[in-house]
Parts: sequence; C-alpha cells; structure tokens
Amino acid sequence: MRGLRAQAIHGDCHAHNLLVDSAAGAVCGVLDFGDMIHAPLILEPAVAMSELLTEGLTTPDELAAILEGYTLVQPVEPAEVAVLFDLVTARHAVTILLHAWRSQHDRGGARVLEHAAGYAARSLDLLLGMGRAQLTQEWHDAAGTSALDDAPVDLGRRHRLMGAGVELFYEQPLHLVRGEGVWLFDPQGRKYLDVYNNVPHVGHSHPTVVRAIQRQTAILATHTRYLHETILDYAEELTARCPTHLDACIFVNSGSEANDVAWRMAQFATGHQGAMIMAHAYHGITDAVAAFTPGAGQPQDPRVVTLAPPPAALTASDSMDAADLAAVADDAEIAVRTLAARGFAPAAFFIDSALTSSGIYDPPPIWLATAVARLRAAGSLIVGDEVQYGLGRSGSHFWGYERRGLSPDIMTLGKPIGNGYPMGVVIANRRLIEAFQTRFGFFSTFGGNPVAAVAGLAVLHVLDREQLVANARTTGDYLRQRLRAIAAQHECLGQVRGAGLLVGLEVLGPDVHTAKVRTTQIVNRLASRDRVLIGSEGPMANILKLRPPMPFRREHADVLVEAISAAVSAVGLRPG
Ligand SMILES: Cc1ncc(COP(=O)(O)O)c(C=O)c1O
Repeated sequence: MRGLRAQAIHGDCHAHNLLVDSAAGAVCGVLDFGDMIHAPLILEPAVAMSELLTEGLTTPDELAAILEGYTLVQPVEPAEVAVLFDLVTARHAVTILLHAWRSQHDRGGARVLEHAAGYAARSLDLLLGMGRAQLTQEWHDAAGTSALDDAPVDLGRRHRLMGAGVELFYEQPLHLVRGEGVWLFDPQGRKYLDVYNNVPHVGHSHPTVVRAIQRQTAILATHTRYLHETILDYAEELTARCPTHLDACIFVNSGSEANDVAWRMAQFATGHQGAMIMAHAYHGITDAVAAFTPGAGQPQDPRVVTLAPPPAALTASDSMDAADLAAVADDAEIAVRTLAARGFAPAAFFIDSALTSSGIYDPPPIWLATAVARLRAAGSLIVGDEVQYGLGRSGSHFWGYERRGLSPDIMTLGKPIGNGYPMGVVIANRRLIEAFQTRFGFFSTFGGNPVAAVAGLAVLHVLDREQLVANARTTGDYLRQRLRAIAAQHECLGQVRGAGLLVGLEVLGPDVHTAKVRTTQIVNRLASRDRVLIGSEGPMANILKLRPPMPFRREHADVLVEAISAAVSAVGLRPG
C-alpha cells in the first residue's frame, strides 16, 4: 500500500453522502467530510464499490461499471487495480467484525449495523465465489489497465518511435511507473531497490522537492531575463558552499551543457584549444564535449589527450612513493608534449573526481596535485566536473574535488542537483563569467528558471535537514566493509573501490571476456530475481557500479549485499 499514489480522499463515498438533483438526474453535491484522510487514491473507488454492495444498490458483477465511471474522470494504475479485490473484501470483513463486536459490547451500535452486516456477509460470499482472479481481470478491463498488467513494454513501438539504438538496461527490460525514496515500482506494484540512480539524489519523488516544484510551477515559470529572487537565493546557497573564488553561476539544463560552456570559457580565458581528460572519461553529448568523451562514439579529436588512471588499489588516505609520483608527472608531461606536437596548448583539464567511468577510483590528493601542477604550468585551467560526485556523494566532502585536494577554476554540475528536474550549473569566478558574457553574450531559455531554482534549493535543504552527506559516509563505509567480507569469500570478486555512496566492486575471471560476462550475469540476476537494480562500469565493464539515492541506509545495504553474495555464488559456478 505504501507504494501506491496517495492524496487527500473523501474516504466515505457512498449513496448516503451524495445529493442528487432528481430533475437533472445528476449528482449535485457531496456531504460528510469527516472521514477525509490522506491515503492511497484507490481507496476512494474501493470504498464506493464495497459500500454500494453493502447497501444492496449493486451486485458484484456490476462493480466494474462503477470503476469504469470513476476512471473516466480519474485514471488509475495497474498496481492500484491489483489491490482492489483485497480492499473491497477487507471492507466487508471489517463491517462483519464490527457488528460481531458490537453485538457483545454495544447493542445499540449493533442494531445500526444489522442490515449492513447481513449484506456484507452475502457480498463477501459472492465476491469470494467469483474469485479474485476473475474480478480483478474484469476490473482491469473496465479501468483500461489490462494491457499494461503483464505485458512487457512494447519494444517494437519504442524502436519505431525512438530508434532501435535507444539503450535499455537489463536482459528483461524494466517497466517502471513510480519511485519513492530508494524504491522503484513496476505496474504490478512490485518494488525494486534502486542502487543505481543518482539523479533522485535525496530520494525518488521526495515530497519537499515535489511540493516546491508544484508550487512554483503554479505561480511562475519564466527565465533569467526578468528579475527573480529565487535564482539569486539558489546561486547564493551554492556559491556559499564553494571556495571563495568560485563566486558566480551560469545556469543551463544538463551536465553536457555545463561542460560545453566550461569548455568555451576555458578556451576563451586561455586562448588555447587543447583538452586533457582522464582515460575512458565521460563528460557529455554536445558536439564539443563528445569530442573529449571517448565513449560517446566520436572519432578521436586531435585537440584531446588522455591521462592514465591512478593505480587502482590506492585509497584517499594512502601516500605515494617517489617513483609512482614520477610516473604520474611523466604521464602529464607526455600529454602536454603530445598536444604541443599537434600544434595545441591545453585550455582545460576536465576531471570527474570520482573517476566514475574510468573504473571508480579513490586516489590520494598527491596523485592529482602532481598531474595538475604540470598541466597548470602549461597554462591549462582545471574544470571540476561534479556531475557525479557533487552534493556530498563521497560522504566526506560536499564537493568531490575537495576530497582530491583540488581547487578547480571552473566547476560544473548536473544530474543530482534538481532531483530529477533537468538542471546544469557552471560555477566560476565572476570576472571570468563577466568577460565571457561580454564577449559572447549568454542566454539559456530554461536555464535558471524559477522552477529549477526552487528544485535546486529544496535539494540543498533536504540534504542538510536529513543529514544525507553523513549518511553517505556511514552507510557507504558499512557497505564497503560488508562487500570486502564477501569479496574475501568469492574467488571471482576483487577490489572494493570508491567512497561514500559511489562504490565499485570488481568482478574477476580467467580472462577479461569472462569477467565482463559474469558482471552482466550478476547485474541481470539481481534485477530479475532479487529486484535490486545496479549497473556496470569501467573500460572492461567488469565493475559492479553501486550508486544509490542518498537516503540509502544500512538495511538497504544488507539487502544488496545478500543479493550480490547469492548472485556471485551462482554466477561463479557457471562456465564463462
Ligand atoms: C561526469 C559526467 N559529466 C557529464 C555528464 C553529462 O551529463 P548529462 O547527461 O546531464 O548531459 C555525465 C553523465 O553521465 C557524467 O557522468
């Protein structure tokens, strides 16, 4: 029941609470709001259906007509129809029980229920006689929800309308209709533990964020060419959490757009055209950004060079010896020279400080400081891409670059900041932003609109109020500790990487192909058997990627770890 849509409902909608205009033959009023309650929406037709039976005004085989009438005004979901039989029969059972109790303790009260209890017993018999399956099917037909009930999402239709190349997760694609906290629900009301999605940062459909968006959307949704204080409040709250030189914002609509703007700003500020990125990095989909995103399918751009990822076993608190640091400095040096040989100097080094698509690493500050020193000496700006690690996901710092000891010149934000409302932000020094605005002008129609601003503010407030950064730390530590324990027991598990609520678990095999196949098998088994949703990551796609919404707690971690342990046992026994 918790998974169903809820709202204020009348709660007692039966014939005695309606006024009818007999001349017009229409209902003209509703009485008795004393039972109003915030409850699953489907209780409204459930009460009406069972009361009309109890009052003897209808028969079980006419119930579908009531539901059909209701759905003409208020469509219902398959999961709601799926529980109707239980709700209607439970209501009758309660009437019978109340009557039985009153017969012993409250004679007067029992007499009031006499008639209803008789009907209730008869109706209950009839309902049970017709059976749950038959009635539920009739009600699905009446509500127009039967097509969705068991059918997989229509793949042919999807391919026809969106192109066959559009990606889908999992061997058995999931059809999801609702989310709440760390849970997702399919049309049958089955719930899935979400250990993958970072966009619903403070939890799916968080009521504070939803209310803020609903309220603002009903008032005003314009753009930044008018004065509006909410976007200033948001900019103020964001920049207050940044180093002092990052003091002004440009608002856009996605992480890709934010990186595109950062790239233009870096080229403008330095007069250079070269870009440095980490090997296997992902920064987005615009033409310019895809050029420095090897995974985006774009040919290698000569203006772009890659740096090697850090040694995988390193953690943020490790030190590095002189030889390892010399290797990092050499790698940066080679990158600068390679660009120079192609006629370019570096404008920007883009780094996602979680190194997510490179394989999820957690190297110490000295690793990054060593590379960055060389790149800065060549005139490069540093762009901290916080699309993955921003807003406290590391558990130790609000911004991921702080965990790496880095102070970027420009930072970019996306995914989690609007909890599902599309937003992107570029934060830089005001002088740079003003020079950029003067040279190019800049306006994004939707960027920074008042609805986006309230969504962003609400996310920051919920993060603080629910202490979700601290939760990312404690739950993340607990999760990694439990994963290490199972990794020690399974030959096909390797390193446990990451910090906070971004965790990578390495899957091993006799060869790269087997490791990748095992990873896919584990991910699919978790989704279809255990209803636990995770992903895979890394250049060899052999890292289990665990990146849940931030209200992910210990009890969720326990469910996840048990499921992974069982899946790994099953998969490890199979031949690759
Ligand atoms: C590190 C990083 N930067 C940028 C992007 C692009 O963001 P968007 O998909 O919102 O354009 C992504 C998306 O996955 C990302 O992971």
